[in-house]
Amino acid sequence: MRLALPLFTSLATITTAAFVHPGLLHTNTDFTRISAKVAAGTEPWATAWTKFTASPYAAATYTPPAVSIIYRGSDGTHAENYPLLYQDVAAAYALAIRWRVTGIAQYGDAAIRILDAWSSTLTALGGNSDLFLAAGIYGYEFAQAGEIMRSYTSWTGFVPFKNMMVNVFYSQINEWFVNHDAGTYGQYALGVYAGWDLSMMAGAVAIGILADNQTIYDQGANWFLTGTGNGQVFRAIPYQHWFENQVIAQTQEAGRDQGHNMLDIALLSMIGKMAYNQGNDLLSYNNSVISFAAEYAARYNLGYDVPYTPYNNGPINLPTISNVSRGDLRPVWELLYNHYGVLKGKNVTWTKKYRDLVVSSNGGAEGGSGDYGPNSGGYDQLGWGTLLYTL
Ligand SMILES: *[C@@H]1O[C@H](CO)[C@@H](O)[C@H](O)[C@H]1NC(C)=O
Ligand SMILES: *[C@@H]1O[C@H](CO)[C@@H](O)[C@H](O)[C@H]1NC(C)=O
Ligand SMILES: *[C@@H]1O[C@H](CO)[C@@H](O)[C@H](O)[C@H]1NC(C)=O
Ligand SMILES: *[C@@H]1O[C@H](CO)[C@@H](O)[C@H](O)[C@H]1NC(C)=O
Repeated sequence: MRLALPLFTSLATITTAAFVHPGLLHTNTDFTRISAKVAAGTEPWATAWTKFTASPYAAATYTPPAVSIIYRGSDGTHAENYPLLYQDVAAAYALAIRWRVTGIAQYGDAAIRILDAWSSTLTALGGNSDLFLAAGIYGYEFAQAGEIMRSYTSWTGFVPFKNMMVNVFYSQINEWFVNHDAGTYGQYALGVYAGWDLSMMAGAVAIGILADNQTIYDQGANWFLTGTGNGQVFRAIPYQHWFENQVIAQTQEAGRDQGHNMLDIALLSMIGKMAYNQGNDLLSYNNSVISFAAEYAARYNLGYDVPYTPYNNGPINLPTISNVSRGDLRPVWELLYNHYGVLKGKNVTWTKKYRDLVVSSNGGAEGGSGDYGPNSGGYDQLGWGTLLYTL
C-alpha cells in the first residue's frame, strides 16, 4: 500500500493489487493462532472463547431485521432506528469470527445471511448530521465481517455487500471529508470533536481495503497524516507531556468526557491496526504517539493524575481534564497492550493495567458488543480482544 507522502517516508511501497486479505483488523496469521489456541484449550483463549460463544450475537440462530433506511439523529419526522444496524453488525462480526475459527458452516451461513439481508435491503442512511457517525462507525465495523467472509466459497453476495458499503456508507464518509471543513455543515468545521473525523477515517480505511480501492483507503489513511480536520494525528493528540519518567500524550477530547476520550483511543488504534496490516505502520508513527495517548488515558482513568494543557479551538474550550465517565470500561485495551507491550516490547504500564481492569471486570476476558451497555457506546468498538489480539 502506498501513501505518497513526504511526511512519513518509511511507509512501505506496494501496489493496490497487493491489498492483503483478510487485512482489516485480523489477518490469516491471526486466525491461525486463534484457532490453534482455542482448539488446544489454552488460557486465556479458553475463557475468552467460552464467553464469546455464549454471546447472543455469536448464535447461528441470529435473525437479522434489515430495513431500507437507517436513521441516526432525529430529522423531526422519522424515528431513530440505528440500534437495528449496530446489533446486526455485532452479530455478523461475531458469526464471521466463529466460522473462521471453527470452520463450521452453520456460523458462516448465519454471517452471510446478515450481510445479504442488509445488502439487498439498505439503500440509505438518514437522520440529522449524526448519520455521519453511523456511516463511519458502522461502516468500519460492518466491513470487518464482509472481509472475513470474502473467502467463504459458498458466499455469492460479496459484490453486492461491497457495493452497499461503498454506495451507502462510503458515499456519506466522502461527503464528510469533502464538505464538512468547507462549512456545509457549519457547526462541524474545525471546531468538531476529533471522534467525528476518526470515525470517518476508520470507515474509509476499512471500506477501501474491503473494496480494493486505493483512493478510498488513501483518503482515510492520509487524513491521519495531513488531514485538515481534528482527526489528523497532531490535532487528535495535541499535547505530549514528559511526566514521571515517561511521555504521555493528551488527546483532544480529554477535557470533554472520558467515554468519548477512550472512543478516540479505540478509533486511533483500529485505524492504526488496519493500516499496519496493509504495511503502513501508523501505529509506530511519531515514536508511537498513539501508545502515549493510550498511556495518558489509561493512567487518568485508573484514578491517577495527569498533566493537562487547556484546550481552546474555536467553539471547543476545555480548561481542565474532565472526570465525567472517568473509569468507563470499553473493550479497547487488548489490541493496544498486545501490539505495543507484547509485539513491540514497549513499556506500556498503564495500558496493561487498564487492560487488566477491563478483563477482570468481565470474568477473565475482554467482552464484545452487548457486554458494555445497550446504547451505541457499547457497540462503538467490536471488542473480543482477549480472544483476537492475545499473542
Ligand atoms: C474507487 O473509489 C473512488 C471514489 O468513490 C471511485 O471514484 C473510483 O472509481 C474507485 N476505483 C475503483 C477502481 O473502483
Ligand atoms: C513527533 O511530533 C512532534 C510534533 O510534530 C515533533 O516535535 C517530534 O519531533 C516528533 N517526534 C518524532 C520521533 O517523530
Ligand atoms: C470532578 O470534577 C469537578 C470539576 O472539576 C469537581 O468539582 C469534582 O469534585 C470532581 N469529582 C471527582 C469525583 O473527582
Ligand atoms: C515502566 O514505566 C512505568 C511508568 O513510567 C515505570 O514506573 C516502570 O518503572 C517502567 N518499567 C520499566 C521496566 O522500565
